[in-house]
Amino acid sequence: MKALILVPLALGLAACSITPTKDRKADQQAASAAAPAAGPIPTYQMRPPVDAQANRLAPAADGKTLFEQRCGTCHLPWGMGTNLLTKQQVALGRPPAMGLLSNRTDLTADYVKTVVRQGKNAMPPLTKVDVTDAELDRIAAYLAKAQPAPDASASESGAAQ
Ligand code: HEC
Repeated sequence: MKALILVPLALGLAACSITPTKDRKADQQAASAAAPAAGPIPTYQMRPPVDAQANRLAPAADGKTLFEQRCGTCHLPWGMGTNLLTKQQVALGRPPAMGLLSNRTDLTADYVKTVVRQGKNAMPPLTKVDVTDAELDRIAAYLAKAQPAPDASASESGAAQ
């Protein structure tokens, strides 16, 4: 009796899975063509799990891992932050790949920390429970690739935003 119900069900599922798999493959190929990094893109669904046992006041994980855990939902490929920032970057005449924060070369650590604590437009502020100061230090250092301005040491006031 059970088998009679299960066989058509299995056939139905097999038929359904053919087209979506193809589409997804095409999507992934298009996405990896756009991304400058080598290897498969870690989509936000695949970000590493948060280690509940980790000491969050003295994290052992590096900035990249912490960024993927704490910010990845929005800032890895297909995240809503990536989508909005891609739109902004393209409007500024920059390549779409700059929608990923990890590709940006114009961010300073202070700017990243300020946006995280205060929020910015569609990005909500994150509390010290969401991301601790120690975690944020590492994340900001990972994202900050901006070259210091030539006169950065001369005028401190210019850096404050
Ligand atoms: C709930 C989703 C969400 C999370 C979580 C999130 N962000 Fe964002 N973030 C956004 C969105 C959306 C924007 C674009 C804001 C806008 O301009 O409308 C943004 C913008 C930013 C910007 C500004 C970029 C620019 O061009 O000015 C920085 C920096 C940033 N996020 C860093 C982070 C970091 C670091 C984390 C993790 C600690 C994080 N965000 C977590 C959604 C998120």
